[in-house]
Amino acid sequence: MHYHDADQTEPETYAPQTQALHAMLQADPVHQAIAPSIVMSVNHSFSPESGAFSACGLDDIADAPYLYAGWTNPTVRLLEQRLAVLEHAEEALATATGMAAASGLFLSVLKAGDHLIVSDMCYAAVYEFATQVLPGFGIEVSVVNTECTNNVQQALKKNTKLVHIETPSNPLLRLTDIGALAQCLKSHGVRLSVDSTFSTPVVTRPLDLGADFVIHSLTKFINGHGDVLGGCILGSKALLSPIRAMAGVYLGATLSAQSAWLIMRGMETLYPRMKTLCDSALQIAQWLESHPRVARVLYPGLASHQQFSLAQRQMDHFGGIIAFQVDDIDLIEQRFAQESALFYYAYSIGHQRSLAVVMRTDDLDASTYRFTPQQKADFCRDAGQGVVRLSIGLEAAEDLIRDLQRLLR
Ligand SMILES: Cc1ncc(COP(=O)(O)O)c(C=O)c1O
Repeated sequence: MHYHDADQTEPETYAPQTQALHAMLQADPVHQAIAPSIVMSVNHSFSPESGAFSACGLDDIADAPYLYAGWTNPTVRLLEQRLAVLEHAEEALATATGMAAASGLFLSVLKAGDHLIVSDMCYAAVYEFATQVLPGFGIEVSVVNTECTNNVQQALKKNTKLVHIETPSNPLLRLTDIGALAQCLKSHGVRLSVDSTFSTPVVTRPLDLGADFVIHSLTKFINGHGDVLGGCILGSKALLSPIRAMAGVYLGATLSAQSAWLIMRGMETLYPRMKTLCDSALQIAQWLESHPRVARVLYPGLASHQQFSLAQRQMDHFGGIIAFQVDDIDLIEQRFAQESALFYYAYSIGHQRSLAVVMRTDDLDASTYRFTPQQKADFCRDAGQGVVRLSIGLEAAEDLIRDLQRLLR
């Protein structure tokens, strides 16, 4: 008996880790293969009388025959459906990268004359796209510290269409209260998008809290193995349909079937992976906090985090990313880069192997943020001259602590 044939059990009553393994999977009718097959075909034949062309005309892709992989393809579609189950979304659109999800969303929802509010702390390329590229299209952009809902409320204008946040944010792990912000924006008819890459649905489900869109870089925890690029946007069918046209068809940022298949395989073990690495991250953050060389640890699961009570309300676990300040950042950077046994010195997050990188405030200012003096003071409140950012992987926590002990000697 398979998941979908089990008439006594409603699929939605299964725990999420069970859904991650079984939801939307159908037994292969030809070979009874258990793993999903990969469909590479770009084109699918159809009968001219079927009305498939107009059915596929971007309004409702879900039940239409596959015409051309620019819209989607059976393997990509299966990934989209399985992502939608985990994020409690009506619809999902897979994109070639996380950046394609963010840029596709912005270019679909916003037009010249509209106003976007973007969180003052989010992934560098998203921030740069919003603050440096969108104004060239006639879109007004405000940068706001979204830790406090009131700051956003004060920045709203008559032409505000979208507020985009990242929680926890990169690199200082600040949080935004999704529920409170969503409620405030709904009363003004403004949409809310949440980059939930650091959280994944294991930690937080923004749509349940009232957000309109969730985006992910699937490149990170959801694939989880550092071997493929991908992204997605999730939300209601009505909101996602025009975005499929823009992000997928017009901008051409469609995910490939091979990448979709790899991401799907990684996603099946998302729950046990996230639980393991979140537990390790909490243990490591606590250990770091007691280390004499460490000036400050930023991790939402620590009671010392400024928004710990929000973290307890909004997050089921506290994530796999830790940032910490040390007094001698040059020396520590050199040791991480040259002497680490287990942390790879690399700019990414969410792999099975742990990664570390130093992010200096002045470098971030020059390359990405272009801080005003007030913004710089606000950033330095948590970052000082810079932080070491750790992305915790699936190694045993005690082995990672042993490595850190040596590097911080
Ligand atoms: C939070 C966040 N959002 C979006 C992206 C962009 O994702 P991609 O590298 O898949 O384009 C990243 C990449 O690091 C990220 O960390």
